[in-house]
Amino acid sequence: MPLTIGILKETVDSEKRVAISPETVKKYKALGAMLLIEKNAGLSASISDQDYKEAGATLSTSTDIVKKSDILLCVQSPDDKIIASLKKNALLIGGLSPHNNQATLKTYAKAGITACAMELMPRISRAQSMDILSSQSNLSGYKAVLDATEHYARAFPMMMTAAGTIAPARVFVMGAGVAGLQAIATAKRLGAIVSATDVRPAAKEQVESLGGSFVAVEDDEFKQAETAGGYAKQMSVAYQKKQAKLVADTIAKQDIVITTALIPGRDAPTLVTETMVKSMKAGSVIVDLAVEQGGNCTLSENGKIVTKHGVSIIGHKNVPSRIAADSSLLFSKNLFNFVSLLIDKDTQTLKIDWEDEILQGVTLTKEGKIIHPLFQEKKKPLAKKIIPKTKAKPKEKIKTPTKKKA
Ligand code: NAI
Repeated sequence: MPLTIGILKETVDSEKRVAISPETVKKYKALGAMLLIEKNAGLSASISDQDYKEAGATLSTSTDIVKKSDILLCVQSPDDKIIASLKKNALLIGGLSPHNNQATLKTYAKAGITACAMELMPRISRAQSMDILSSQSNLSGYKAVLDATEHYARAFPMMMTAAGTIAPARVFVMGAGVAGLQAIATAKRLGAIVSATDVRPAAKEQVESLGGSFVAVEDDEFKQAETAGGYAKQMSVAYQKKQAKLVADTIAKQDIVITTALIPGRDAPTLVTETMVKSMKAGSVIVDLAVEQGGNCTLSENGKIVTKHGVSIIGHKNVPSRIAADSSLLFSKNLFNFVSLLIDKDTQTLKIDWEDEILQGVTLTKEGKIIHPLFQEKKKPLAKKIIPKTKAKPKEKIKTPTKKKA
């Protein structure tokens, strides 16, 4: 029996993406796998059943796919019923949002499946082609600018016409990671005057190389504000205050603000307050890409577009799904690059190196247990040993190091 890879139609509300493309169907087939895809799984991502069939996949029912799959690929986690019906030791691979779905981790463990959360992919160069956060954020950054143009009643580029001159839009991007850099590039292509801020010093050069100007308090804390993994660190209260002042002055002069700032595993930092929104001109637009993690703007609402103090504040959920055809292509390719690591090319069977840091980085559960160090339940402290009373030596004073503030 060949290795069977299944793909279901996504069930989470408003999720339009799909975890496989016709291109990756062909690639999996070349590795000897059989592909079972649920009918209409790709329709909302502009992929027809016929496209899948022509690439070599078999269309099937959800029940059949769940029963037969050795690997189930998904964009978001399937529901508990599906998880419970999977084969023991089957691999579930996709965007499992483990930080937001900690209860589901127990369901994976109980079902005895191996669940791999692709958003935990280590940020090493070998894993770049498997990084769903990067591929999806890139498209979110692009889409955020287009969403802003839709709600902005003016043009982005400067236009000199016989009837007068139109001033270029001023766009400020907060958080210059993958999404932010793409937002900068997109706004520049549309002719806006672009500036950006970030707490990671490495971002300065990247912003400037795209033609944006960099806005940040560049003190000592800023110079060390990046983790080994390339993510932002939580900044001190003092830094946040200084940064807020600089940002407030900048925001008051902007037409469009696009916020993308995230810190993994935490709520998004608050960067735009109500006072800052009030300082903006009527008709300005804020796009909050961090809205699902609590938002960078205090007035943004998850899944809504609201107008406050004359400013449109856009808080779309799941922005990559708003550009589902391309985001699905990239997502599918990320999954393929990961899955191909698990398949022995000669025997065309699963051969997994559990010592590989990529596997260790993404695997949540295995053989009935939650094994990921970030999500393992804390062990209860051992009960105090009862030591028979003897003449105790006077205790030595031990100097405890004072905790450094994060
Ligand atoms: P992210 O989505 O976690 O955060 C977005 C941005 O917000 C980051 O640039 C972060 O520094 C910034 N931010 C956080 N708090 C902030 C605050 N208070 N004020 C302003 N900005 C704030 O990050 P993302 O985009 O996923 O990646 C960050 C960096 O990681 C990338 O620019 C890149 O250098 C690196 N990276 C490396 C990869 C690899 O080697 N495989 C893959 C993808 C990214």
